[in-house]
Amino acid sequence: MDLHWTAERMTGEDLRAVSAIEQASFRDPWSLQSFQTEIETNPLAFYLVARREEKVIAYIGAWIVQDEVHITTLAVDVQYRRRGVALGLVKELISRVASSGACCLTLEVRPSNTAARRFYEKLGFVVLGRRKFYYADEDALIMTKNGLRLPEDLEERKKR
Ligand SMILES: CC(C)(COP(=O)(O)OP(=O)(O)OC[C@H]1O[C@@H](n2cnc3c(N)ncnc32)[C@H](O)[C@@H]1OP(=O)(O)O)[C@@H](O)C(=O)NCCC(=O)NCCS
Repeated sequence: MDLHWTAERMTGEDLRAVSAIEQASFRDPWSLQSFQTEIETNPLAFYLVARREEKVIAYIGAWIVQDEVHITTLAVDVQYRRRGVALGLVKELISRVASSGACCLTLEVRPSNTAARRFYEKLGFVVLGRRKFYYADEDALIMTKNGLRLPEDLEERKKR
């Protein structure tokens, strides 16, 4: 069942919790300082956290580059996965950047990251190509989605 949580802009106070989820979620995690640099100095960056009863349970980041929303990161605390949180965060990101006039979403993902690939495919992303040696040990798949509308069944799925 989906959880109740709220989406808020990421601030410096969230960084320790974000970093803990990051460390538990990725083979090559970003440092806390990387997130800090993003939220404090990158004018193109847009980062949100999902908060449940004061606790950060997930986050998403994007760069709004001209008409493209490039998702830089997305992770959910392992305890809260498969409960619609990532889907809700993507929806929230889309609704907050829609007025920028963006026309498409892009991201890089590891070919071996089956969960993320399934997740993005469900949202209507398709594989556009491959970036050689993007990660230290693996290429990246470039995934893209034209338009900001999600498939209808996902649009209707509500946060509870
Ligand atoms: C990928 C990730 C963000 C998904 O978060 P989540 O909150 O569990 O995803 P949701 O509950 O919103 O899933 C929505 C749909 O995506 C698909 N999906 C999500 N996780 C999946 C998995 N492990 N296997 C297959 N499909 C999956 C399902 O269709 C799911 O719908 P369902 O639960 O009704 O079947 C999460 O697994 C995660 O944090 N992984 C580690 C970090 C990561 O890889 N981030 C992506 C980097 S590009």
